Amino acid sequence: MKVLALVGSRRKEGNTATLVRKVMDSLPSRGWEKELMFLGDHGINGCDGCDGCYDTNECVIDDGMSEIYAKVDEADALVLGSPTYFYNVSSDMKAFIDRMYCRVVFHKDDRSVWTTSRETRGAGYAVTVSVCEQEDVRDMGFTADTMRMTLEVLGFRVVHEVKALHLFSPGEARGSDAALGDATKAGIRLQRSLELNTGLRRKNV
Ligand SMILES: Cc1cc2nc3c(=O)[nH]c(=O)nc-3n(C[C@H](O)[C@H](O)[C@H](O)COP(=O)(O)O)c2cc1C
Repeated sequence: MKVLALVGSRRKEGNTATLVRKVMDSLPSRGWEKELMFLGDHGINGCDGCDGCYDTNECVIDDGMSEIYAKVDEADALVLGSPTYFYNVSSDMKAFIDRMYCRVVFHKDDRSVWTTSRETRGAGYAVTVSVCEQEDVRDMGFTADTMRMTLEVLGFRVVHEVKALHLFSPGEARGSDAALGDATKAGIRLQRSLELNTGLRRKNV
């Protein structure tokens, strides 16, 4: 199995990174390819909305996304993690999300109908990790929803959403048994989904 984790915080020892690492650590090591990347390290520009991808489903912008496209295309599962920045994902995560637009193939006569190359070769699975400072989940705004809805459009089934509240300074997540426990649960659920789904595919059910 190939699992790719993409972190939308630039704080390498921050709360999002800590919880995403926990999800990844909960997955098996033997026989699994696991990689964690910080989106902010890869110079991802925003989408130009040029529709240069219309015929090819390839983005015309030549930047750090090229490497990430290849990894997303190959991944059996994604783990997306973002801190809440003003009620939504960070700008690094939003740039990544917008640049995935090129992978969506809309029907030319009816754009309410679409598919993705992922869907045609079987669904992927995903987990999201959202973090915010406030105690009320309303202050997390759209962070989790933005990642989940995007993943679903792209053909990844979201099996667990970690929503970690009341974490502010980098490292606070390391002291939160509740958040760490939920991240572990997410990893276990992801592993189970991937393994059971592989079994189903082998049976051609
Ligand atoms: C620009 C910015 C905007 C933020 N907006 C919110 C917010 O809307 N709601 C909230 O609860 N926390 C907000 N926070 C706090 C972060 O979500 C919180 O500190 C989180 O733990 C950071 O995660 P990290 O350690 O992974 O970077 C904001 C922080 C920054 C820097």
